Amino acid sequence: MKLKGIIFDLDGVIVSTDELHYIAWKRMADDEGIYFDRKINDRLRGVSRMQSLEIILERAAREYSSEEKTSLAEKKNGLYRELLNTLTPRDRLNGVTETLDNLRKRGFLLAIGSSSRNTPLILEKIGYGDYFDAVSDGNNITHSKPHPEVFLKAAQFLELEPSECLVVEDAEAGIDAARAGGFISVGIGPAAFCERATYGIKNITELVSITDFINC
Ligand code: BG6
Ligand code: MG
Repeated sequence: MKLKGIIFDLDGVIVSTDELHYIAWKRMADDEGIYFDRKINDRLRGVSRMQSLEIILERAAREYSSEEKTSLAEKKNGLYRELLNTLTPRDRLNGVTETLDNLRKRGFLLAIGSSSRNTPLILEKIGYGDYFDAVSDGNNITHSKPHPEVFLKAAQFLELEPSECLVVEDAEAGIDAARAGGFISVGIGPAAFCERATYGIKNITELVSITDFINC
């Protein structure tokens, strides 16, 4: 089967918003007196806002009501959106602009597959508002990664089969979602050494040679 489409996770793959998620959750956790560090933060990659909060609350000293949880998630999102206001195209991660342009020149369809409901705002801020051929995000799914829904929808929007698409992810939950959906996967950053990923890369620029290799 020929590879025709590439589906990118957003936070931590295209743009450095993974760091902004961390800063916002850290402020919320500190205000509540809940221990939170970067290792715990890695477990939040790819999972929904409410699931992320549940993971943070594992270290809380008391139970939180569902109203309190909603309000904490809203508080974090408010802090996060304030931070998103500072984003510019310079916050695209190293190698992203040239890699996407190279892949497009080779004829691949390009899509986003992100659990984030803030995807449209982020894409606008980094100058990719109209760039992708399809965007599947937290606004069009009912199940978060590791469920494959977000990637299956992205493939559907591109009018491609999962076997014709490759998924690029920094989250283990995203690698598992890709596998569950029947996609080839490429792990980067914290997911580069995930043994469930089809390939692992250090820099996104390596994607070009991987796609050349798959299609040769
Ligand atoms: C994912 C992030 O892309 O989006 C997760 O990796 C985050 O950490 C999820 O929880 C939901 O994001 P948002 O912007 O809808 O709160
Ligand atoms: Mg990510």
